[in-house]
Amino acid sequence: MSLYHSRTQYTFSQLEKSDLKTTPHEQLQEWLDQAKQENIPDYHACCLATADHTGEVGARYLLLRQLDEEGLVFYGNRNSEKGKHISNNPQGQILFFWREFNRQVRVSGNIIELDRECVNDYFQSRPLGNQHATAASEQSDFIASREELEKNFSLFEAQYPDYVPTPEKWAGYRLKPHYWEFWQGRTNRLHDRLSYLWDNATSQWKIQRLQP
Ligand SMILES: Cc1cc2nc3c(=O)[nH]c(=O)nc-3n(C[C@H](O)[C@H](O)[C@H](O)COP(=O)(O)O)c2cc1C
Repeated sequence: MSLYHSRTQYTFSQLEKSDLKTTPHEQLQEWLDQAKQENIPDYHACCLATADHTGEVGARYLLLRQLDEEGLVFYGNRNSEKGKHISNNPQGQILFFWREFNRQVRVSGNIIELDRECVNDYFQSRPLGNQHATAASEQSDFIASREELEKNFSLFEAQYPDYVPTPEKWAGYRLKPHYWEFWQGRTNRLHDRLSYLWDNATSQWKIQRLQP
C-alpha cells in the first residue's frame, strides 16, 4: 500500500483526566510499565530533540535510564551533537511512542549534566564490551572506515581487559520537565491529548486537555 493511503485506526484505549496520576512522572512510569509488561523491545527508547544556539535542531533516539520526580536521565557523549547542543542551549524535548498502545508522550524541559559520581556508577554498570566501544568511539565524529573503528575497539580491549576507567567524554544528563503531554490515539483521529503544566502559583501540576 502506498504511503499516501496507508492508515491505522487507533482503537486501543482512551484517556480522561480522571485516568491520570497526580504527577506526570508517575503517569509516564505507568505507561512504561505497561509497555515493559507487553515485552515491547526497547520500551524505554525515546527521541531527544535539541537545538544549537542558532536554532538548528537535532533529534536522536536514546534509552531512558532513570525516571523520578527530578526528571528523565539519559547518557551519551559530551562531544556528540546532542552534547554540544546541550552545553550551548540546555533545553530539549523527549518523545516516546508505543505503537502497540497507540500512545505518545512528550516532555519538555531544561537539561542539566549529572555529577561525575552518577556518571561513573552508570558507566561501570554497563557490559564490558559496551564500555570498550564507548571508550573507542568519538561519537558523531567522522572516521575513515569500519576497520579503523574496530582497531580502536581492540586497542581498548587489550589495554583494559577487566576494567575501563570512565571516559571523561561520557556524560549523563537530566531533563527537568516543565511540560508533559500524554497522547492516546482514538478513532477517526479524534485523539485524546492531556497536558501537565507546572503552575508556580499553586506549586502543582495543572492538567488541561488539548485539541487533537
Ligand atoms: C534504540 C536506540 C537507543 C539509543 N540509545 C542511545 C543512548 O542511550 N545514548 C546515546 O548516546 N546514543 C544512543 N543511541 C544512538 C543515538 O541515536 C545517536 O546515534 C547518537 O547518540 C549520536 O547522536 P548525536 O550526534 O545527535 O548526538 C541510540 C539509538 C537507538 C536507535
